[in-house]
Amino acid sequence: MLGNFSYHNPTKLYFGEESLGFLKEEMKHYGENILLVYGGGSVKKSGLYDEITAILKEGGKKVAEVSGVMPNPTVDKLREGVQIARENKTDFILAVGGGSVCDYSKAVSVSIHCDDDPWEKYYIRFEEPTCDIVPVGCVLTMAGTGSEMNGGAVITNHEQHLKIGHVFGDDVMPRFSILNPRYTMTLPKYQMVAGIYDIMNHICEQYFSGEDDNTSDYISEGLMRGLINASRVAVSDPQNYEARSNIMWTATWALNTLIAKGKTTDWMVHMLGQSLGALTNATHGMTLAAMSIPYYHFIMMDGLPKFVRFAENVWGVDPNGKNDIEIASLGLAKMEGWMKDIGLVTSIRELGADKSMLDDLVNGVSILNGGYRVLTKDEVRVLFMEAFKR
Ligand code: NZQ
Ligand code: ZN
Repeated sequence: MLGNFSYHNPTKLYFGEESLGFLKEEMKHYGENILLVYGGGSVKKSGLYDEITAILKEGGKKVAEVSGVMPNPTVDKLREGVQIARENKTDFILAVGGGSVCDYSKAVSVSIHCDDDPWEKYYIRFEEPTCDIVPVGCVLTMAGTGSEMNGGAVITNHEQHLKIGHVFGDDVMPRFSILNPRYTMTLPKYQMVAGIYDIMNHICEQYFSGEDDNTSDYISEGLMRGLINASRVAVSDPQNYEARSNIMWTATWALNTLIAKGKTTDWMVHMLGQSLGALTNATHGMTLAAMSIPYYHFIMMDGLPKFVRFAENVWGVDPNGKNDIEIASLGLAKMEGWMKDIGLVTSIRELGADKSMLDDLVNGVSILNGGYRVLTKDEVRVLFMEAFKR
């Protein structure tokens, strides 16, 4: 392991079918004014909303609500939530939903006691919180983002055509998260597979960097193999608890800082996907699926040894009689085959993009330098052009 680092993750996890049973006890640690945050209605349909409000009531809590947090939460919705939280003197935010609800709750939590506009402060100037942070807890209903155990909070500004993530520190990470794989079983297949690909890509973004022998890469390979296996089971049998529970647990470990240790990390697929998402509002995991294959083919020669290792150790490519380029290309072909098998959308047109957006798509991409190649803006344009051919 190269580099010097510390490792600490403050989020306490409760996992399994009995995990909601711990909510009442957890909530005793926090004040009485709770802001319950949820999305567009799936939690009411599933009955989870009733269960949670009953637990909060039993615990003597006063509950205010922010409902209708949309996928890819917007800056306008963020401002609305901050207002409601202030009016209700919120002591604790309970997020019940997927990554959007969890991310949104963290963004509200750092903005309630802050005078600055949150978009300008956290997403344009990238400042850290300088005010009291209201603690957040999550009850997760969708596996994918890892938001349940990280400091990420991605917000979209449609007016400015920007979708930006701020990764906050320990103080903003959820105090606890409740992970019951059963809750994910009501997800439509489209969302389930988008979440699966989000997990896969989080691992790839960290794996495809560095040239040293690194424990993080071995952990990543194990996570990817488990995910591929579970994804195939879950697609053919969505009610399979074993598969859904493995997917949920993998999602958490794919992006809770563990496998980034000792790595520079790439994250360019996310930068490309976020720009696409800002313009189309497409589902996050699908934007990654559409940009991944063009991107990985583009950088394959820059990181060839890792792509060879990926092909052999993750996709089981037999290296006998093949040169490195053939092995690496076969690995990417196997990944693409798997993506098609599980039903991912790999065309950006299908996600709502058209060529008139090209300049904005390119402008919206932040270029990072932790991967095998530092792209130029011209290369970003080439990548979107490639993606339009698919
Ligand atoms: O709003 P409701 O009605 O709840 O429906 C949601 C939503 O329409 C639905 N859903 C969630 N759980 C369900 C369910 N439907 C039925 N049954 C359930 N159990 O699924 C839809 C999508 O939910 P959403 O929360 O948007 O999905 P996801 O978890 O993929 O979150 C996406 C957001 O997270 C950000 C993305 O950019 C995007 O804004 N990310 C956050 C990251 C982080 N915190 O580190 C990293 C990621 O790379 C990502 O950028
Ligand atoms: Zn992601």
